[in-house]
Amino acid sequence: MICVGSVGDIEEGTSKGLDVEGAYLFAVKRDDIVYLYRNSCPHLGTPLEWEEDQFLDPEGSLIQCSTHGALFDIKTGHCLAGPCKGQHLQAVPFLLDNGLLMVEPGHLGQRDIHGATD
Ligand code: FES
Repeated sequence: MICVGSVGDIEEGTSKGLDVEGAYLFAVKRDDIVYLYRNSCPHLGTPLEWEEDQFLDPEGSLIQCSTHGALFDIKTGHCLAGPCKGQHLQAVPFLLDNGLLMVEPGHLGQRDIHGATD
């Protein structure tokens, strides 16, 4: 498994971009739980963040795409509003090992790999 980041590096109520071996991911910590997604909007496949590590709306209650403003539930990745409403962010399965986020290499979803089925 590959370490993509440390839980301790993510402040409560904030998000963090993770660039690991060519894969763009991001994590959100909410109520001490970490959620991990691919950094790719289901609308156009663009990265979501506004600025480095800024993936949330101004209230910090939803994930918001910086391109066209789609809003996503932090816990489920479900798109609640915007052009990709009803679609989902791609959650990345991970294990916690001593505070480290560990991901199977096959779940990283490198940008240049297409056609994978979920
Ligand atoms: S690319 Fe994210 S809402 Fe259009």
